[in-house]
Parts: sequence; structure tokens; C-alpha cells
Amino acid sequence: MAEELTVEVATPDDVPGIARVMRGVADEGRWIGTPAGTDVAALEERFAATVADPGTHVLVLRGGGDVVGLASLTREHVRGAHGVGMSIAADWRRRGGGGLLLDGLLDHAATDPDVHKVELQVWPHNGGAIALYVSRGFVVEGILRDHWRRPDGALWSSMIMGWWPPRG
Ligand SMILES: CC(C)(COP(=O)(O)OP(=O)(O)OC[C@H]1O[C@@H](n2cnc3c(N)ncnc32)[C@H](O)[C@@H]1OP(=O)(O)O)[C@@H](O)C(=O)NCCC(=O)NCCS
Repeated sequence: MAEELTVEVATPDDVPGIARVMRGVADEGRWIGTPAGTDVAALEERFAATVADPGTHVLVLRGGGDVVGLASLTREHVRGAHGVGMSIAADWRRRGGGGLLLDGLLDHAATDPDVHKVELQVWPHNGGAIALYVSRGFVVEGILRDHWRRPDGALWSSMIMGWWPPRG
């Protein structure tokens, strides 16, 4: 069913759709760091800045004419090591969209001579995302143990994964 999904570079017009997807995934409470119930207006403000940031590459996944997912490659504190974030609306998962988005980000990273590494963090219980990352060549680098405090006060660990652009 992947043929009904397309990936494009995000534009400012996509920001409301991106915020809607992020809010839905945040409200599931299990996959991303953004807390459930995060104000949609705050998400729109955050992603308007992200889409406008020349240091961030943002892709949107479209299905049925709507934004149904997004992925970003962001400059982090270590120059040249860029971070991945991605979210797809629950009804649109397992149709190949995650692979399309991640391939788009990694193609971009591979052609940017300033990017020497792509990194991400994932909750260890997120087996689907980990399987996707491994399928694209990411390796586990370690665990940040009891590192992130969740809105209910619980401490969650995260797994660090890395990918290096193939360079001739
Ligand atoms: C993780 C996520 C982006 C994957 O997107 P997706 O569109 O469902 O993934 P795809 O359909 O492209 O799957 C590609 C491969 O990833 C793996 N995979 C994805 N979801 C999986 C799952 N739930 N269980 C097992 N493997 C899974 C499989 O290897 C799959 O290949 P296959 O379909 O040939 O078996 C999506 O599930 C999502 O947005 N989840 C909620 C937010 C999230 O977890 N973001 C990542 C935070 S680190």
C-alpha cells in the first residue's frame, strides 16, 4: 500500500498538519518525548520554527491528501552529528511510510558533507521503531538509564542508536 503515500520537504503550509499528527502521537503516551495533551498552538509555534530553520531538514508524509507523518533531521550540540525524530499517525503505520521518511532523511544526510553521523534516541519498549532503524543500518550505541522523567514522575531509559553516512 506504499504507493498511496508520498514524501515531500515540509513547507510552512504543512505546519498545522504536522502539529495535528504530533498531538495525536503524543496523546498515545508511549512513543515520543512530547507529553500527552501538549497544546496544539504550542506545537504549531514549535514546528513553524523548525520548518523555517535552515539547519533542520523536515519531511512530511502525505496520505489521502493530508499530512499523516513527519520526520526531521536536526543539528544538535555536536557539530556534524544530526538527530532524527519521526512520527506517523496511528492509522497510517505499517504501510511503508516510516521507511520512506527515514530513507529520505538518510539520503539527505549522505549528500551533506557536513553530516558525519546521524543519531537518535528511542524508548527500549518501542520495538517497531527499533526494527525500522536496524533495517536501515542503525546500530545500538548504549542506554541512558532512568534518564527521562515522564509527566507522571516515572523515569524512563532511552536507547541511543547511530548511523554513519557511507563515504567513498
Ligand atoms: C516507528 C514508526 C515511524 C514506523 O513507521 P511505519 O510506517 O509504521 O513503518 P514501516 O511500515 O515503514 O515499516 C518499516 C519496517 O520497520 C519495521 N517495523 C515498523 N513497525 C513495526 C512494528 N510495529 N513491529 C515490528 N516491526 C516494525 C519493520 O521491519 C518494517 O518492515 P516490514 O513492514 O517490511 O516488516 C511508526 O510506527 C510511528 O510513528 N510510531 C509512533 C511514533 C514513534 O515511535 N516514533 C519514533 C520515536 S523514536
